[in-house]
Amino acid sequence: MSTLLERIGGETAVNAVVNSFYDKVFTDETLKPFFANTDFEKQRVRQGKFLIQFMAGKMPTANEYMRNAHRKYVAEMGLNDKHFDIVAGHLVNTLKEFNVPQALIDEVVTAVASLRDHVLDRPVKNAA
Ligand code: HEM
Repeated sequence: MSTLLERIGGETAVNAVVNSFYDKVFTDETLKPFFANTDFEKQRVRQGKFLIQFMAGKMPTANEYMRNAHRKYVAEMGLNDKHFDIVAGHLVNTLKEFNVPQALIDEVVTAVASLRDHVLDRPVKNAA
C-alpha cells in the first residue's frame, strides 16, 4: 500500500499545495492575529516539511510536536475549534483547486482531524 504522500503526487505536489494553502491562511482576517510575528517563508518551509513527513507516515512524534507548537496560542490567544475549522477548510479548498480526487481529500481530512485535540492542547477524545 503506497503512502498518502505518494498517492497525492509526491513532494513537488505537496509543496505547490502548501504555497497556495498558505496564501489563504496568511491573508485570512480571522487568522491574521496569530501570525503577527511570523516569518512567512520559514513557516512555509516548516509546514511543508511537516506535511510531507506526516503524509509519508514518518512522523511518529507528530502529536506531541503539534501540541507543543500550538500550546502558547491556545493559552494566550484563545486558539480554538473555530480557527482549526477555518484552517482545515482552506486546506480542503486548496486540494479541490488542485483537482485532487475526493477520496484522497477525505484521507487528508481524516489525517488532519487526528491532530485536532493535540493542536488545541486538550485530552484526546475517543482515544483507543
Ligand atoms: C492540523 C492543523 C495544523 C498543522 C498541521 C499545523 C502545523 C504547524 C507547524 C508544522 C508549525 C511549525 C512548528 C515549529 O516547528 O515551530 C506550526 C506553527 C504555528 N501554527 Fe500551526 N498547524 C495547524 C493548525 C493551526 C491553527 C488552526 C492555527 C491557528 C491560527 C495555527 C497557528 C500556528 C502558529 C501561529 C504557529 C507559529 C508560527 C511562528 O512560529 O511564527 N496552526 N503549525
